[in-house]
Amino acid sequence: MDTRPIGVFDSGLGGLSVLRALRAELSHEQFVYVSDSGHAPYGERDDSHVIERSQTVARFLIEQHHIKALVVACNTATAAAIKHLRAELPDRILVGIEPALKPAVALSKTGHIGVMATRGTLQSEKFQALLQSLEGRGHFVLQACDGLADAIERADAIKIRAMCAHYTGAMGSFGSQYGCMDTLVLGCTHYPLVADILQDLVGPDVAFLEGGAPVARHTHRLLTACHGLAPATAPLTTEPLTFYTTGHAGLLQQAVQQYIGVGVPIQTVDLPQATTAS
Ligand code: DGL
Repeated sequence: MDTRPIGVFDSGLGGLSVLRALRAELSHEQFVYVSDSGHAPYGERDDSHVIERSQTVARFLIEQHHIKALVVACNTATAAAIKHLRAELPDRILVGIEPALKPAVALSKTGHIGVMATRGTLQSEKFQALLQSLEGRGHFVLQACDGLADAIERADAIKIRAMCAHYTGAMGSFGSQYGCMDTLVLGCTHYPLVADILQDLVGPDVAFLEGGAPVARHTHRLLTACHGLAPATAPLTTEPLTFYTTGHAGLLQQAVQQYIGVGVPIQTVDLPQATTAS
């Protein structure tokens, strides 16, 4: 039994879609969430930036909060940095997220699958290897959605709707008919936060896949395997959530209220670039 918290981070508030699933799966755990929005978006930056930011945030969570596990709630950071984090933290439970292509292949009836993600994720070696491993098992339409995570971050409703319409329109036809995309993979953790807008645009016949619930189940399995779960008997006396941002506290607070349903204080933290990043 281990009462230490689980660390969760993203370039911004997208990881709240993963935190929501983690809370549902692991109701006795404490979580510390870092939104690195002062250094976002990750998806349109080069790998070295994303690797250094991921290392900086991971070190903060370990040194200041002694986390027992780290969930990288960002597809872009997982693609660019997870192998560096694993090398640096060989004894820590580390869980990443990747676009749900394999479940999409199993689910799609038309065999046409849309994938929305950041440019960084789609161009990464990790994603290309995943795509290659599924060669011949589906027709994938890949869409890099520049600017969409940033618009979600700023809660800019008009821009969000316009960008969702632009990108889904550019991908082709959606629906259950022959030759249409009947499955849409939300390959960036920000996008589930605007799933209702996307569903409205592509129609009710399209199934959405995101990585939050599988990540939560995987985290549960790993903690169980090493006897690292918090005791289920001890009722939590305080709200088991701590939030930090390197950016705008007000926007994160609003998003936490909206997507997690709690009103907790947000702490602003200055996390300068790590000097020892490799
Ligand atoms: N939420 C991040 C992801 O899952 C990316 C957002 C960004 O570009 O910073 O890829």
